[in-house]
Amino acid sequence: MNDILQRYAAALESLAGKGLLRSLPAPAPEAGRAAPLDFSGNDYMGLAKRPELVDAALQAGRAYGAGSTGSRLLSGNTPLHQAFEARIAADKGTEAALIFSSGYQTNAACIAALLDKMALGSEPLVFADKLNHSSMHLGCALAGAKQTRFRHLDLNHLQALLEKHANEPRPKVILSESVFGMDGDRADVAALQTLARRFGALLYIDEAHATGVFGPRGYGLCEAIDLDPATVVMGTMSKALGASGGYVACSRLVRDYLINKAGGFIFSTAPSPLVVGAGLRAWELLPGLDAERKGLLARAEALRQGLLKLGLDPGSSSSHIVPVILVTPERTVATKERLAAQGIIVSAVRPPTVPQGASRLRLGLSATHTDADIARLLEALGSL
Ligand SMILES: Cc1ncc(COP(=O)(O)O)c(C=O)c1O
Repeated sequence: MNDILQRYAAALESLAGKGLLRSLPAPAPEAGRAAPLDFSGNDYMGLAKRPELVDAALQAGRAYGAGSTGSRLLSGNTPLHQAFEARIAADKGTEAALIFSSGYQTNAACIAALLDKMALGSEPLVFADKLNHSSMHLGCALAGAKQTRFRHLDLNHLQALLEKHANEPRPKVILSESVFGMDGDRADVAALQTLARRFGALLYIDEAHATGVFGPRGYGLCEAIDLDPATVVMGTMSKALGASGGYVACSRLVRDYLINKAGGFIFSTAPSPLVVGAGLRAWELLPGLDAERKGLLARAEALRQGLLKLGLDPGSSSSHIVPVILVTPERTVATKERLAAQGIIVSAVRPPTVPQGASRLRLGLSATHTDADIARLLEALGSL
């Protein structure tokens, strides 16, 4: 075997030896065929297969094409892209918004641009929650910015770090998720914004897992606060919105800056009209889904209580994402396989996605799950 291929093979063997090898699960069954009970997805509001979204995608495709043909700055800017951005900005209470083809791309492109040393005149001081998503780290790495990590959700620690650096003239940036994707716990976004204001920092909040599920009309935890022009709120269309793509809601100035500086915006084909059509329709549906949101969060609470009764650890979850911390990768994978044998699909999450010693099942609840589904899951977990 070619030398470099041998090295890849050795890297895979090393992962397998540690119980950390990843492989693709079997494809989900086609619509209409009997499906297992699935807790592995992020379709939190059960919108991905809603006929309204599929119809909206087809309608958008007929009007604007299956592909957008180029970057927004060239041929890819349609009235649909602009209408979606106007709607996001209006509902988030910001001056502007900008959409991207994926959430990962949104974070990588926007964070890299916002931390750009050349534009800022010096390397920014970046304060980041310890459990932020990998795409946020990528944005920092692309900008060559060192992160100062604060303990997960610990705003006293963040404040102490900000105080320590208060007299440094370098620009300050705070990065956090609002609902954390692996733990299902929630940041105090109002307190984060207060701290950011006090220390003159830019605040960047990732609402990937909050969009659709939290907020008075379902537009995320930040919907409930008056956003400062120096707060940038990111979210995705790939989870509760049942489509794909990402967005930032921000000031007009920040949008103009990103259009000029975010490589992942400038040099990438605009999101397909098909997904923009579906995402916009889902966005419009959110305010009407209050009962579904309440049901979803009530079932998540019932699941946590049930897990505790079984002596299982749901960590610090306070949302529709409920981990079952099983500590080792081996125990986690074995439990996932035993559940699969009973027709219940869950995700096994291992390092490096989560810290060492924190391997877990990740249960993503959806508004389409029923009380009986939760009871079946608990019964299966209790029988293992
Ligand atoms: C917190 C967070 N941000 C961003 C992303 C990336 O979003 P997408 O899946 O749309 O690329 C994810 C994906 O899981 C995420 O958990």
